[in-house]
Amino acid sequence: MRLAFVGKGGAGKSAISGTFARTLARQGDKVLAIDSDPLPGLAFSLGLAIDHSPPIPDDAVIERKEGEDGPRWRLNPDVDPFDAVDRWSVEAPDGVRFLQFGKIKGDPKNLWRSQMAFRFIINKLPPGRWNVVGDLPGGTRQAFTGWGSWANTILIVVEPTAKSLLSGRRLARMADLDPENPKRVLVVASKVRQDGDIEMIEKGVGLEVIGAVPWDEELAEAERRQLAPIDFAPDCPAVLAVESLVERLSEETVSS
Ligand SMILES: Nc1ncnc2c1ncn2[C@@H]1O[C@H](COP(=O)(O)OP(=O)(O)OP(=O)(O)O)[C@@H](O)[C@H]1O
Ligand SMILES: [Mg+2]
Repeated sequence: MRLAFVGKGGAGKSAISGTFARTLARQGDKVLAIDSDPLPGLAFSLGLAIDHSPPIPDDAVIERKEGEDGPRWRLNPDVDPFDAVDRWSVEAPDGVRFLQFGKIKGDPKNLWRSQMAFRFIINKLPPGRWNVVGDLPGGTRQAFTGWGSWANTILIVVEPTAKSLLSGRRLARMADLDPENPKRVLVVASKVRQDGDIEMIEKGVGLEVIGAVPWDEELAEAERRQLAPIDFAPDCPAVLAVESLVERLSEETVSS
């Protein structure tokens, strides 16, 4: 399973993806949770309040030398993607490994290199060893412009609001712009409050809604306390809804 959560800022991507990753790991699957947002979000929802991950060093990518052919930047051939994950990720609860692209410390140029290294590592990670769950930054910029190319399933997180529907629609359209990396694109309804919200989202985005997470105060409270939703309120309706989503997608992956 290689899935990326995308959607408008604040839609619930981090809360859902962190809970999703933890639930999948509890089933015994090896899970790599990746955050390609410079602001921490996924770490908190996984239950890693303090992130001890070592930054990906700037020599993990190398620049083309004068006279050489090929792209300007590439992964240092000494960096094996499997080892890179072991070295630069940290262990979150339930055995989830967590990898992010870097920290905004020191020279911003290094962060740029670390971002590139992160992308190379994820894109070169051969399938099989890891289930990858990615939390992409809000908006439409990253989802289909290389950052999500490792994914085979894109889950667009959509709230029942006009702006969220609009970004959901745009993201759904952008999925067709990456024909070299065909993906399954589905919608997760988030912060659902009333009857009719799911139908409104389904109609508004024009794609199947595969799961619906209800509005749940416990999630906001978990965030205030800097705790993972699954630790703070394991039986709250939102966490149970994410667990159903994992179940549904796991069944489909096994049977497909
Ligand atoms: N189902 C829900 N019910 C109530 N509050 C929720 C729900 N899901 C998320 N929230 C709250 O909404 C806020 C945004 O959630 P979250 O950080 O998961 O969104 P995001 O899409 O990752 O945002 P960003 O784009 O900023 O990374 C948080 O305060 C979170 O606690
Ligand atoms: Mg987030």
